[in-house]
Amino acid sequence: MHPTQGKKKKIRLLFVCLGNICRSPAAEGIMTDLIKKNGLQDLIEVDSAGTSGWHEGELPDERMRLQGEKRGYDFCSTSRKLTRQDLSSFDYILVMDENNYKTVRSMASDKEEAKKIHLMTDYLVQYRKLYDQIPDPYYGDASGFELVLDLLEDACEGLLLAIKKAHQLS
Ligand code: 4NP
Repeated sequence: MHPTQGKKKKIRLLFVCLGNICRSPAAEGIMTDLIKKNGLQDLIEVDSAGTSGWHEGELPDERMRLQGEKRGYDFCSTSRKLTRQDLSSFDYILVMDENNYKTVRSMASDKEEAKKIHLMTDYLVQYRKLYDQIPDPYYGDASGFELVLDLLEDACEGLLLAIKKAHQLS
C-alpha cells in the first residue's frame, strides 16, 4: 500500500472503443505496464470495454497482439460490452473516437458521470493537435496498428501525468 493512500479505494480507469479487441485492450495493456513501471499498481486499476458486444469473449485481434508483442506487451484481456454500471463504478472513462464518445455520453445518467468521460486524444503529448481521435485500425493494414500503438503510448504517458497531478501521487 502506498504511504499516502491509506485504505482509500483505487482510482479506476476504463478504456473504451467499438469492439474492445483493438484499441482499448491495447490501451489497457500499455497503461498496466506504465502503472507497474511507476510502482502505482496498488493505487490505480485498469480495464477496457466496447460499446458493441460484437466480439464478446474474444481475445484482442491477432494483428494488435502481434504489434504489441514487438514492443514487449502482452495484450490478453477478454472483450466485453460496456454497461451503465461502468459509468458509475469507474473514475475515468477514456474513449477512443468521437462516435464512441457520443455513445458513452448518451449512457451517462447525470452530470457527475458525464464529467468522467474523456477522449483519449485529450492526453496526447508529442502528438498533441495532430490527432483528435485514435483511428480505428480494424479494416486497415499493419501500419494502422503501429500508429494506434504510437498514439496510445503517448496518451498513456499524458494520462498518468494528469492523474498523478490530480490525485497528488508521487
Ligand atoms: P476496436 O476496433 O474498436 O479498436 O476494437 C474494431 C474492432 C472490430 C470492428 C470494428 C472496429 N468490427 O467492425 O467488428
